[in-house]
Amino acid sequence: MGPPVEPAGIESFYLEDRTIEPSSGFRERALISDPGVYDRAEADWEGFWAVQATELLDWFDPWDTILEWKLPFVRWFVGGTLNVSHNCLDRHVAAGRGDRVAFHWEGEPGDTRTITYAELLDEVERFSNVLESLGVTRGDRVAIYMPMIPELPVAMLACTRIGAVHSVVFGGFSSDALRDRIVDGQAKVLVTADGGWRKGAAVPLKANADAALGDTPSIDHVVVVRRTEADVDMRPGRDRWWQELMEGAEPHRAPEPMASEDLLYLLYTSGTTARPKGIMHTTGGYLTQVAFTHKYVFDLRPEEDVYWCAADIGWVTGHSYIMYGPLANGATGVLYEGSPDFPSRDRWWAIVEKYGVSILYTAPTAVRTFMKWGTEEPAKHDLSSLRLLGSVGEPINPEAWMWYFEHIGGGRCPVVDTWWQTETGAIMISPLPGVTTLKPGSATRPLPGVAAEVVDDAGSKVSEGGGYVTLTRPWPSMLRGIYGDPERYRDTYWSRFEGRYFAGDGARIDEDGYFWFMGRVDDVMNVSGHRVSTTEVESALVDHPSVAEAAVVGAKDATTGQAIIAYVTLRAGYQPSDEHGQSLRRHCATRIGPIARPKTIVFTDDLPKTRSGKIMRRLLRDVAEGRDLGDTTTLADPAVVEEIRARAQSAPPED
Ligand code: WTA
Repeated sequence: MGPPVEPAGIESFYLEDRTIEPSSGFRERALISDPGVYDRAEADWEGFWAVQATELLDWFDPWDTILEWKLPFVRWFVGGTLNVSHNCLDRHVAAGRGDRVAFHWEGEPGDTRTITYAELLDEVERFSNVLESLGVTRGDRVAIYMPMIPELPVAMLACTRIGAVHSVVFGGFSSDALRDRIVDGQAKVLVTADGGWRKGAAVPLKANADAALGDTPSIDHVVVVRRTEADVDMRPGRDRWWQELMEGAEPHRAPEPMASEDLLYLLYTSGTTARPKGIMHTTGGYLTQVAFTHKYVFDLRPEEDVYWCAADIGWVTGHSYIMYGPLANGATGVLYEGSPDFPSRDRWWAIVEKYGVSILYTAPTAVRTFMKWGTEEPAKHDLSSLRLLGSVGEPINPEAWMWYFEHIGGGRCPVVDTWWQTETGAIMISPLPGVTTLKPGSATRPLPGVAAEVVDDAGSKVSEGGGYVTLTRPWPSMLRGIYGDPERYRDTYWSRFEGRYFAGDGARIDEDGYFWFMGRVDDVMNVSGHRVSTTEVESALVDHPSVAEAAVVGAKDATTGQAIIAYVTLRAGYQPSDEHGQSLRRHCATRIGPIARPKTIVFTDDLPKTRSGKIMRRLLRDVAEGRDLGDTTTLADPAVVEEIRARAQSAPPED
């Protein structure tokens, strides 16, 4: 079978034909099991979102206008007022659900805390008063640089309560990254901790922050949570201990009524340039779509479910699906501070068993790591409480999907592969687990109310085949811009295809209209004039029983334009050898086509990753292009592996 030639799009050769229907038991109990929801939403999509905003949220004042759209600037629920912390806390407590657990928190050393909605509200009210006592008022920016401890949700919700804008900086970022974000957002207060626990060691957050604070004149005060008891420098007048401030804080603070379009938060994300973009999210539309997607994509039953999104709150996944979606829906969540292999590689499965987790949401990179560690780790624990699994962050290879489905979900839990971005704020393309026939490796179709299309280079719609992912109309949780840079906002997202939002991803649409994501467009290789997705070749490699993880890059090649270089980590029990490399190359050729046969296979013990778990392909490409890797298999060449390691350590923590 030769590859189809589609010069205008992105070619896709990887054929995956397994399908999995929702079980009748799941379908019967699901919140949505009627496929008619898609057509009804489509018939009046503005009205559809307005119904969600009414049903899922509490408004102080109703809106006058559902939508104002003047490309690329959008306003939703104009004239409406609400408060995010009121929606996440007060209304649940007022309805008699104050004793429900908001978070089962577990620190890496094994310390735990159970936090009810009433307790969370109490701390949020106090910290709201603390922030105001430090001079923070409506509209001010507050930077937050913290480990995954209960004070992090408290700080974020307190900002939303008084109408301040939070800018959470992932605790794994360096002081330079923190400084740049504080400066760009002109934050007045920084909330941090003495440190946090990671793989048994204390990460020195306050010391990192001190290095940044030399160049951040906007910061008046720093609030420091005691967590690791590390010695820290406290600058008199500027730095204050969280615990001391909270003891003296007034207990009550009413939620500030905010306009639907008031800025809720900034979250920085990297693009094609080195300078991070401050993505802006506002209040009413954002909360509507995160609550909607969290409820229906995860089929949430807040009275019964224990929901665990195992991301870090410092990323958008944590903002939308640890914090705002689950809390708006009154869910009970798990919050875990540390690493999955501390003290041993079954830590996650111990947590699932201990708290009876029923919904687990994680990333393909985690799934592939667990594959590498072997099925005996999850097998040590009773995972029968699980009923639904989710995936986010990158394309999930069919083999990883099946492994997750079988070895974590016991073959009974639907896997929802959810596509979205920091910029989209909430899930856009994903199954509805009681409706959608699943295809392992596909995020399936746009959710009700969402419109997405794949287009070719000229911007024409592709009904079947490969191309660029675009969104064809505004959605409630859409980014409102890049902080301080409206031109960059227009250029990055709205100029490539007229009238469309350009997501920067490639995908294939199959005969059922399902989306098969193929990674960022700049991760697409061009081999002998054929475009091949790095993700597709990776899927083929991971499909081989010996392969735990693979990263594929296109390196410049005099003959073919680009050549495929594959970095491969083997599962326990397999040895790298020349012969093995040849069989992997043959495997790719068989699975996808001769065009996908890697020129070089480099065996390595570990792949270089960002702190969020994304493989640093750019670095691998540089390594591949910077040296002659030969034209066949490179056996665990120590020099290459050393170079990857050294450069991963010195590279900035973003991708
Ligand atoms: C990728 C994370 C395939 C994609 C929420 C997107 C995915 C980028 C998926 C956004 C998925 C995320 N399938 N690719 N289910 N989810 N991506 O901003 O390339 O950290 O553009 O947001 O991750 O990453 P971000």
